[in-house]
Amino acid sequence: MNIIWHKKSRQYHLYNDKISYIMGVTPVGELGGIYFGKKVHDKEDFSYVEYRGGLPNIVVDPDTESYSRELNRQEYPSFGTTDFGASAYEMEQSNGSCVSSFTYKSHSIFKGKTPLKGLPATYAEENEAMTLEVTLEDDVARMSLILSYTIFDKYPVVVRHAVFRNDGAETVKLTKVMSTCLDLPDQNYRWMQFSGAWARERIPQEKDLSSGSVMIESKRGISSANQNPFIIIKRPNTDEFTGEAFGFSLVYSGNFIAQAECDTYRRTRILMGINPERFAWPLDKGEEFETPEVVMAVTDSGLNDLSQTYHSLFNNHLVRGKWKNKPRPILINNWEATFMDFTEERILHIAEKAKEAGIELFVLDDGWFGERNDDYAGLGDWVENPDKLPQGIRGLARKMNAMGLKFGFWIEPEMVNPDSNLFRRHPDWALQTPGRKASLGRHQLVLDYSREEVVDYIYSMLKKVLTDAPISYIKWDMNRSLTEVYSAELPPEKQGMVYHKYIMGVYSLYERLRTEFPEILFESCSSGGNRFDAGMLYYAPQAWCSDNTDAIDRIRIQYGTSYGYPISSIGAHVSACPNQQTGRDVSISTRANVAFFGAFGYELDLNHITDEEFEEVKRQIEFMKENRELLQFGKFYRLRSPFEADQAAWIVVSEDGKKAVFGLYCMRSNVNMLPGFLRLAGLKEDAVYMLKGEEYYGDELMNLGVPVGKLSSDGLAVGRDFVSYVEVLEAK
Ligand code: DGJ
Repeated sequence: MNIIWHKKSRQYHLYNDKISYIMGVTPVGELGGIYFGKKVHDKEDFSYVEYRGGLPNIVVDPDTESYSRELNRQEYPSFGTTDFGASAYEMEQSNGSCVSSFTYKSHSIFKGKTPLKGLPATYAEENEAMTLEVTLEDDVARMSLILSYTIFDKYPVVVRHAVFRNDGAETVKLTKVMSTCLDLPDQNYRWMQFSGAWARERIPQEKDLSSGSVMIESKRGISSANQNPFIIIKRPNTDEFTGEAFGFSLVYSGNFIAQAECDTYRRTRILMGINPERFAWPLDKGEEFETPEVVMAVTDSGLNDLSQTYHSLFNNHLVRGKWKNKPRPILINNWEATFMDFTEERILHIAEKAKEAGIELFVLDDGWFGERNDDYAGLGDWVENPDKLPQGIRGLARKMNAMGLKFGFWIEPEMVNPDSNLFRRHPDWALQTPGRKASLGRHQLVLDYSREEVVDYIYSMLKKVLTDAPISYIKWDMNRSLTEVYSAELPPEKQGMVYHKYIMGVYSLYERLRTEFPEILFESCSSGGNRFDAGMLYYAPQAWCSDNTDAIDRIRIQYGTSYGYPISSIGAHVSACPNQQTGRDVSISTRANVAFFGAFGYELDLNHITDEEFEEVKRQIEFMKENRELLQFGKFYRLRSPFEADQAAWIVVSEDGKKAVFGLYCMRSNVNMLPGFLRLAGLKEDAVYMLKGEEYYGDELMNLGVPVGKLSSDGLAVGRDFVSYVEVLEAK
């Protein structure tokens, strides 16, 4: 890994064993893009990439008389001069102008990576990454722009973000600040996004790029289930195992956009960052604004390789603390078993049976506090309800511990019900616009986390519940989008700051809690997977993936989620049947076979299943304990897509390729059809593996494939709806 500055050509080459990122100072003094992809030899000068020929109807720079930004790749293009593409930023100056030009002044190159201020970010030791910070200045606006690039030694990844600083006396208003802009040299790409809604999150969707823009966004104040802040740009022939692809993951949990724009002259521009809609950030003298960062990855070996890069990078350089790379406890959550209708006795009854099955952690969900007996009241009042918990959270946690279970509980700290003591005392603490109706979502309002005093207050309430109680886990929920966003505390000219300040407030509470209680495992949640993003993983190493616990739907949801996020982060539970959301009946074995590939748990009352099912649950837990390290942190490959076929399959392989677990699922049976073969991946070609009492070479299993008919005793294998197989392979 190295970062080279070629003084004569004024170009930078960031590279490691896998990739190169090349860019440099353009003839007009700004930064221009040259290349991002597979590693190439270093050279003093790559400026042949530049186009100076001129084309009809082109506007050029007056000094060079030949250089047009529009015909060349830009690193961080401005609005209003000779680049007519989507801009990376916009800033309104005191004279009303938005035209600007940031030109090269200096740079620094250093080992490692510095943290962002108050924002989640990837991190690295000095020997693991190198960082380049290029300082550019706009002398007219008296503004500095620092573009930051980190290359990781072992990953085909460059991480970018930008910082604006006001060096002048006049206030400058930032109205658009992207985290990255990457100009690609042609337009032969397909765009892949991960979209959905509640209970059908992160479903992959693809389209060809062509002239014009493709954009996804969130304006909900959360990253959202509707659009995920992760996209892939790939060649049309790229599949799971071959071909070129780029990934862009925004380490941020609020409003965002991701955009690809194909212009008139063969350039494809990728932009990603905070959504400029309703973003306006005034910068006074000496003040700075730092954007979130984007993790840009590249592969020439297909989408599995791209995903594995994100899985490993996030596990090793984003997730922090005690739970980094640590197998996750097997939990039971009472939500689908009791909803809010429980007593301590009922909870302990569920816990006893869970303990008998081998479960390690009990999670008490919504309903333990204030007047919270339904979803009309109580949010904001983080004090135990003595009718339900006579000795409080502390008392219950101790009883759980005495039983041999760890204990954790649910919170939704960003919310308030109008029917709550908190709202009656502080109605102005909710986000609402003066003179307008405040829309309700699940009968609740959103607290104004742009205000420090609100965050402080919630922190002190939660701290009281947590102090001296043996709490091992917190599920942090967030159940509605932000609307009528306006802060009672800020003056009119600062209202455009509220969305971003809100999420910064959320991050600050997370940071305070995890610093004060470092033992706690946080699981983020937002009506299931409404805020499943890289930003959250910095604070909460796992996320409840979806409220849809139907195993068949979950195959799709977990499969889609795996493109951008590690298996260890995907909260996955076995719940009761018929399923609450779909009414579907699926065997307890298939329910677990899907949930094994995630942060595994149960969400039902085990007292209510048959004895045979209970025996099976015990075996499942034993299996998970034996294999969870591999399942959650091994190399994950998607093998058969549930979006393309009636079957789905995936495999997780150990680093050395000697041990693997694969899952094959029949989502819909096919009558009168041969069972076929499932080609595996990631195994050692020469190693011999045992499967169903027979020996196979790794190369056989990867090329001829597993004879699917041999997986079941009746030879039918995938010949029945919802049957599934999970098999462990171990090299002899
Ligand atoms: C939504 C979550 O996704 C559920 O798992 C559950 O915690 C409920 N909220 C509780 O209100």
